[in-house]
Amino acid sequence: LQELELKNVALTAGEKLKVKGEILHDAERFQIDLGCDPEDLALHFNPRFHDDADGAVLVYNSKIGGSWGDEKREIDNPLQRGSDVKIVLKLCGDMFEVELPDGQEVQFPNRAGMDVISYVRIKGDFKLTSFKIC
Ligand code: GAL
Repeated sequence: LQELELKNVALTAGEKLKVKGEILHDAERFQIDLGCDPEDLALHFNPRFHDDADGAVLVYNSKIGGSWGDEKREIDNPLQRGSDVKIVLKLCGDMFEVELPDGQEVQFPNRAGMDVISYVRIKGDFKLTSFKIC
């Protein structure tokens, strides 16, 4: 289990976060969180490989003031355990766009209306190899 936590980042509308790494071969889950602190996340992107209800699923949510919002679940999870992946997360102002390795783009609303993402966390069964804001 790895964890990368970055504070004092400044990701604004139009900017992207490119995350590359390897999904562990026995991965249960990992997450990429964007927000302003651990209790205030505009985007929690959480691929799961063995979810009790849905098996392999992409879970999206927000956490505001320490409380999770309503999950968005995408049953079509193109992420493969044991593979190298590039995931691009773009802040588009009133929404986030997550680009997956198969070219699929999933949108998630910026429910908290966060203009600047200052906190990034990457955690779970994922071996990070590169990370870039552009
Ligand atoms: C919870 C889980 C959290 C987070 C959240 C997303 O069940 O414990 O880590 O993934 O779901 O809605």
